[in-house]
Amino acid sequence: MSDDLQALRAETAELLAAAADLRAWDAVRVATLGRSGRLTGLLKGLGAVPAEQRKERGAALNRLKGELEAAIEARRLALEEAALDARLAAERLDVTLPPRPAAPAGEGGIHPISRTFEELVALFGAQGFSVAEGPDIESDWLNFSALNIPDHHPARQDHDTFYLPAGPDGRRPVLRTHTSPVQARTMLSQEPPIRVIVPGRTWRADHDATHSPMFHQVEGLVIDRHIHLGHLKGCLIDFLRAFFGIADLPVRFRASYFPFTEPSMEVDIGWNRKTGALGAGGDWLEILGSGMVHPKVLANCGLDPREWQGFAFGMGIERITMLKHGMPDLRPFYESDLRWLRHWASDPLSPPSLAEGV
Ligand code: DAH
Repeated sequence: MSDDLQALRAETAELLAAAADLRAWDAVRVATLGRSGRLTGLLKGLGAVPAEQRKERGAALNRLKGELEAAIEARRLALEEAALDARLAAERLDVTLPPRPAAPAGEGGIHPISRTFEELVALFGAQGFSVAEGPDIESDWLNFSALNIPDHHPARQDHDTFYLPAGPDGRRPVLRTHTSPVQARTMLSQEPPIRVIVPGRTWRADHDATHSPMFHQVEGLVIDRHIHLGHLKGCLIDFLRAFFGIADLPVRFRASYFPFTEPSMEVDIGWNRKTGALGAGGDWLEILGSGMVHPKVLANCGLDPREWQGFAFGMGIERITMLKHGMPDLRPFYESDLRWLRHWASDPLSPPSLAEGV
């Protein structure tokens, strides 16, 4: 490489190293590769080079051009990374710090929905479940078809689905109408045995004192060999008695229908219709849906139903929270009324624990 090219390479490297920010970097880039940049000038001068040296000079210039472009790009990446690091350091926030210890009592508490999430995690965690999650926007296949709710199935209408504009495949994604699509996601992405709960947001076009267009559900899924109805019953009875804190809470399993389970059961707990008290009050209150995972759902998710069985369940978080605390109306959950929040919030410093009871 001739001396002038070596000099250009060395000087550009020096300038790049000295460029401390993207603005300085851009000045180096323009001065080198820009329309009146140094390298561009040398390329333009190629015509004046004697013919017998032109080929060699041209090749050398092209090599240098490649090198300079790579060096300039590398510097840009390094500067961007440094800028990001600086910003992350400047905006550092320790989210694990407890709330201000000196804050007056009642300031900063756990929302009852979040509290129920925590309780679900504690109670099902003790039964060996882990937590799975999925997105709010789902394909129509995962929200419905994979769960044995085909295109013209009446259950599709029951869900009052919010549809989004169609994607490239011509199908319209949905705001998930239940947490059940995460059953399919989990079976498709994990090897059994599986034992997960899925707490999360769900959406249906429905609004009154007991329905909100955005609400929360928790899904449960167990897949293993030799799973039977006895496992489902034991799991849910234990959970319901612990969650409501009533050791002899009556629990009834009533035959029902869901497309994704066979057999399907709705689960009722005992209460007193007149007083609203939960327990052995002579009346029954429906609380959740459950069943043995339908062989078609297993097959849709790549599992051989002759080898794997399982059970699933789903329930409304607002509903179990309202019942547990005797809340009459669901709307205040989302209204951010400080008086309501102060009344129902729980202490962030005492998370639910099995030892103390939830
Ligand atoms: N996905 C149902 C709903 O939103 C609830 C449900 C019922 C979930 C039965 C289940 C189940 O996993 O087995 O109404």
